[in-house]
Amino acid sequence: MSIGIIGAGAQGASIARMLAKSGIAATLANRRGPASLAGLVEELGPTIAAGTVAEAAAKDLVIVAVRWAALGEALGGLPAWNGRIVVDATNPVSFLDADSPERQDESNPLAAFGIKIIDLGGRPSSQVFRDHVPGARVVRAFNHISAEDLQSPDTEGGKRVLFFSGDDAAAKAQVRRLVEAAGFAPVDLGPLDIGAPLVALPVGPLAAGRFVMA
Ligand SMILES: NC(=O)c1ccc[n+]([C@@H]2O[C@H](COP(=O)([O-])OP(=O)(O)OC[C@H]3O[C@@H](n4cnc5c(N)ncnc54)[C@H](OP(=O)(O)O)[C@@H]3O)[C@@H](O)[C@H]2O)c1
Repeated sequence: MSIGIIGAGAQGASIARMLAKSGIAATLANRRGPASLAGLVEELGPTIAAGTVAEAAAKDLVIVAVRWAALGEALGGLPAWNGRIVVDATNPVSFLDADSPERQDESNPLAAFGIKIIDLGGRPSSQVFRDHVPGARVVRAFNHISAEDLQSPDTEGGKRVLFFSGDDAAAKAQVRRLVEAAGFAPVDLGPLDIGAPLVALPVGPLAAGRFVMA
């Protein structure tokens, strides 16, 4: 199974690093193009290649790790997904500049973390995400774990839990295998409409926890 990663910032690069540690091959893409990733892929080793967004999007399993506001640009105009697996690692948040007055907004419980929830009119973000990748089999995963924690699957005497959810059993089985191969403990939260809100920021009951399986 070939893997593409769209987004090579904190989260996308961390996912690539996680895969590289287990010798899993992937093509990593960002907005600026492969040349801008030369240093990173050299550091990550031979299993991780830099590619264009189109090249990453052509893989069997495509992990999307761009900021929410960039989804339309990143995923627009790509060839048909034709049932390929797309993993939603995003969260519907905007990132606040360090000097923005919004960082002092006491009505925003996430202001101290430099983020703000984007109002999707009550729709779960996974539903909105699905609209960006028509025809894909969407699995939500890697969105609830920090870039830092992705580098330490073994912790506190057990394996760090990675939750995932989706509507297609075969697609989820592939994600489960990937999570296991990377050394984490996969936990299936069920269908997308049920599982994804459980790990939604900031109110999903499982969103803020750091779970470890003994
Ligand atoms: N950071 C975390 O710990 C963390 C944890 C869980 C989930 N997430 C989620 O992961 C997503 C990414 O967060 P981040 O912290 O990694 O953000 P980030 O550091 O700002 O990285 C964003 C990446 O997206 C790329 N990008 C932007 N527009 C693009 C486009 N049109 N086509 C292709 N690539 C594009 C950027 O490329 P350029 O650099 O070339 O502009 C950059 O590589 C967000 O949805 C966030 O909520 C993050």
